[in-house]
Amino acid sequence: MSANMQIDTQQRKRIDELFENGILSAEDFRALIDGRDESTSSYLAEKARIRQKENFGNTVYLRGLIEFTNYCRNDCIYCGIRRSNRNCERYRLTEADILDCCEKGYALDFRTFVLQGGEDMAYSDEDISRIVRSIKTKYPDCAVTLSIGERSKETYQKWFDAGADRYLLRHETADPDLYAQLHPKELTLANRIRCLYDLKAIGYQVGAGMMLQAPFQRTEHIVKDLFFLRELQPEMIGIGPFIPHQDTPFRDREAGTAELTIFMIGILRLMFPDALIPATTALGTIDPTGREQGILAGANVVMPNLSPTGVRDKYLLYDGKICTGDEAAECRSCMESRIMLTGYQVAVSRGDSPRFLHDILQES
Ligand code: 5AD
Ligand code: FES
Repeated sequence: MSANMQIDTQQRKRIDELFENGILSAEDFRALIDGRDESTSSYLAEKARIRQKENFGNTVYLRGLIEFTNYCRNDCIYCGIRRSNRNCERYRLTEADILDCCEKGYALDFRTFVLQGGEDMAYSDEDISRIVRSIKTKYPDCAVTLSIGERSKETYQKWFDAGADRYLLRHETADPDLYAQLHPKELTLANRIRCLYDLKAIGYQVGAGMMLQAPFQRTEHIVKDLFFLRELQPEMIGIGPFIPHQDTPFRDREAGTAELTIFMIGILRLMFPDALIPATTALGTIDPTGREQGILAGANVVMPNLSPTGVRDKYLLYDGKICTGDEAAECRSCMESRIMLTGYQVAVSRGDSPRFLHDILQES
């Protein structure tokens, strides 16, 4: 179907309503998603860019991703670093390694460091606190984001007190039955949600999000995710296509598409005009121009990899992951030119959520 083809009247009405009100009925969301075509997508992206520009101008924020351990106590069915994957060569970075990544990242204008890893209990609560404190002491103008899974409220509080600013924990799916089909039985949606609300109550800027087109996922599930996110009101929302990993039980499943992820970015931008929405690596993996298309549909964050090249190809959550051979500086300049080509520009700043900054001003 061609992009300049006339948009269906019903679809236009739904998008206009979503643009005005930030919400649709579950039935209209389902119809909008299931009835999408090129003309619907380009109209949605056009509207999403209006909201994006109102809130962020032409700025895209950079986050430096440091994948510091691929040990994981969990066994999520879809994930390449699940504990039962014997083919995964495991590694851990030391505090010195991590600080080295930050030093390189700072010189490359990164002002947010995202420490991501499996749920690796070899780092004690105190180890993580110490690492966070070291980064914040050395780089007081930077934000530290943690993305290391489900913990107790007490642990989250310790890390917040050590200086962590943000926490990423995707809910993956808001449907408890689908959640159970994608995870081992020790993991529950209820606990995931408990973690997200604890993080919010403590004062973190919180990121949630879901995998799209994971096995068994239907449009109704995605609509549930939208209503869940509306209730949670996270500062960040990360979404991306499911991509199979060869050493997991889902190895033969079909991957998700860039097309649906890009469409959902547009919907999220209209629902959450001031949210930070990354154009993710999974999106760039499934389509070479996926991240650029994501930005043009409302995404406003990119997360180039700062992990040392020696470990890059070991942090494989899914097959075909891009950038595993590139130095931090290469990823950084590659991202910058990609963003410039979309007409946006990279900011040298922490890139806090506008809503969060507003709350801080009100308090002081
Ligand atoms: N395909 C796509 N995304 C995945 N993730 C984990 N495994 C996969 C996969 N096979 C995503 C999850 C997780 C994030 C760190 O990566 O959503 O929260
Ligand atoms: Fe650790 Fe998936 S197995 S996050």
